[in-house]
Amino acid sequence: MAVERLQKILSNAGVASRRSAEAMIVAGRVAVNGKTLDKLGARADPDKDEITLDGTPVLRERYRYVALHKPTGVLSTTRDERGRPTVTSLVDAPGATLHPVGRLDLESEGLILLTNDGALTELLTHPRHEVRKEYLVAIDQPLGRKGRDRLVRGVRHEGERLKADSVQVVSPRGSAERPDPRWLLVALHGGRKREIRRMLSVVGRRVVTLRRVRIGPLTLGALGPGESRDLTPEEVQALYDAGKRAEAREPGSMAAATMKPQHPHPVAIDGPAASGKSTLARALAERFGYVLLDTGLMYRAFTLAALRAGVPASDAAACTELARGGGLSLTVQDREARVALDGEDVTDLLRSPEVEANVSAYSAIAEVRRELVAQQRLFAAQRRSLLVGRDIGSVVLPGAPVKFYLQAAEAVRAQRRGEQAAEWGEQQSASEAERDISGRDETDSTRAASPLVVPEGAIVIDSGELDADAMIAAAIAAIEERST
Ligand code: DC
Repeated sequence: MAVERLQKILSNAGVASRRSAEAMIVAGRVAVNGKTLDKLGARADPDKDEITLDGTPVLRERYRYVALHKPTGVLSTTRDERGRPTVTSLVDAPGATLHPVGRLDLESEGLILLTNDGALTELLTHPRHEVRKEYLVAIDQPLGRKGRDRLVRGVRHEGERLKADSVQVVSPRGSAERPDPRWLLVALHGGRKREIRRMLSVVGRRVVTLRRVRIGPLTLGALGPGESRDLTPEEVQALYDAGKRAEAREPGSMAAATMKPQHPHPVAIDGPAASGKSTLARALAERFGYVLLDTGLMYRAFTLAALRAGVPASDAAACTELARGGGLSLTVQDREARVALDGEDVTDLLRSPEVEANVSAYSAIAEVRRELVAQQRLFAAQRRSLLVGRDIGSVVLPGAPVKFYLQAAEAVRAQRRGEQAAEWGEQQSASEAERDISGRDETDSTRAASPLVVPEGAIVIDSGELDADAMIAAAIAAIEERST
């Protein structure tokens, strides 16, 4: 490809619009081959030059990022002289030479990252600022509270201090089962050789199974041994962010001296109708300065556009054409997104009974969702944002570093919905509210396109059990815990 202006390269890469890209350049956030270029005339060759925004490569398509579930008995190296199986032999990567980021012992299994992006590898494996990792560990005999506390305080082994960030008793098969004291979830920052096996030997336990289930924001999920998958761009970004936060934590580093506390973003909040999403979202946006996008407004605005144009939800082709027409746009006012149709701000028209009654049907159309999701991702990539909806943590931003899923019993939500309707100037009886809520739940969670689910890695909060202050406090604590 030919040499082009930097703002064009950035906008072609989907990083930002041409105008926002110019602002990023002038702000000194863009570098070419390690050198900051803050003049608007600067050019680069996207094929040859390494272009970064805030230190993160922009042209990611030249790199591959693969999450692999390493089985036991496989080496975490690129090649083995004795011809034993290695992690790279398990991943098909034509034309790319992948290497593992960090290691897992021969007899350990679980999540390992493979890539050809040297900058990310360096960031994540720097010995002094490793990101947090979690391991599911089966031991030969139960370990009581005292033993677990010792591991968190730190133990000595062969002259080295070995220490876990946390040790929890868990159930091996998901949270629904009773915890089993022979199964531990151990979190660590360090990467000393055989650290978990050695620390457990100090408290007299032998490790039977050791499986890494998390590296910073990335989780093993449903990958079975030997299976792999490519990371999404959001996951790659989240790994870069985690690596940079870890770097900033290092005492005495330049970044630590100059950086204000960093709160993770984007934040995803999902849940059924009237589960308390907006209350929580507003409180978090206020507290941490996030810009809030309630994606429900976009589905509502699309519904209004379709009703105005006389396009029924049963005509998927016409709806698709309408969605692609680009009439729907977002603006930000007082840190909240507002929605416009062909330039007319319709945000305050979206609670009408007509929109209310039709929005679920229009939001079940896959092509409509695809268009709106693309806009939502772009919005999140351009600012420190918090997105609220039904599919944010699962589809729109699966790599988000913090995800909440709110739930509450149907009766609680129906009562709230009745109160909200009164606030919006609509009269609704208790039984109407209940019918409205359960009908909406039914469509939203059974539709084929992005049904409402609890996203992987989400913090589940029951807003019927907690009062609003307690719910907000719990969520603030979760974000602060992930801040540096
Ligand atoms: O949150 P709300 O009530 O404003 O959402 C209106 C409708 O939009 C809801 O019934 C489902 C749909 N929706 C969706 O499908 N995906 C989202 N991310 C947000 C809303």
